[in-house]
Amino acid sequence: MPTDALLIFGAGGHGRVVADAARAAGATGLLASDRNPALCQGELLPGIPLHRPDAPTPAQATALHVAIGHNAARERESLALGLQRLHTVCHPAACVSPFAQLGAGCFVAAQAVVAPGARLGLGVIVNHGAVVDHDCRIGDFAHIAPGAVLGGDVQIGPGVLIGAGAVVLPGRSVAAGAVVGAGAVVCDNIDLPGSWVGVPARRKA
Ligand SMILES: CC(C)(COP(=O)(O)OP(=O)(O)OC[C@H]1O[C@@H](n2cnc3c(N)ncnc32)[C@H](O)[C@@H]1OP(=O)(O)O)[C@@H](O)C(=O)NCCC(=O)NCCS
Repeated sequence: MPTDALLIFGAGGHGRVVADAARAAGATGLLASDRNPALCQGELLPGIPLHRPDAPTPAQATALHVAIGHNAARERESLALGLQRLHTVCHPAACVSPFAQLGAGCFVAAQAVVAPGARLGLGVIVNHGAVVDHDCRIGDFAHIAPGAVLGGDVQIGPGVLIGAGAVVLPGRSVAAGAVVGAGAVVCDNIDLPGSWVGVPARRKA
């Protein structure tokens, strides 16, 4: 991660979480912006000024983190702003194995674990306290919500949301675009998009 001049794009709650983590990781000179000009007033957090999206980007802010929790919106903005500018942010209290691979623009929150052999695509969020065990594969712009647990060798498709506190048993897969509800337990592979809830997880009508 760069130590300065990181632009955080997204002025909502997730933006504040990412800004807090970036600063804890030692970043200085943080800036913030949002697609919605009405949100671009004052500061994202104390000392992190918000800039209007139509104002010229400060020259030093070439590095970018798209801090939007909604998967499709995060993907859309990342593509619009330039994948080559994306930087990953890991909170210093996260435990990320040096033998894991993280694509550009990922965020790993405090108390999250990413184990050896895990491979994360672009713009993946591993939120507070989530566990991504060994050899998991996570597709681009997926979100593993707070407290969710992926057992070893799990495969998560692009754009998937694994809800807060959900569990995916080892070796299972979750298809692109699926939403696994908060607290669900995925015991069988999920091959279709849509919302899956309960224990064991079943497709919601
Ligand atoms: C599963 C989920 C996507 C459904 O959302 P929704 O379609 O808007 O559902 P609703 O809130 O309208 O609820 C519809 C029904 O599903 C039930 N339901 C909702 N979420 C559920 C869940 N996680 N587990 C079990 N049942 C659930 C509701 O009780 C309701 O039941 P009813 O029809 O008998 O009254 C959503 O509730 C969820 O769990 N999202 C994950 C959120 C999350 O963890 N975000 C992380 C943010 S960092």
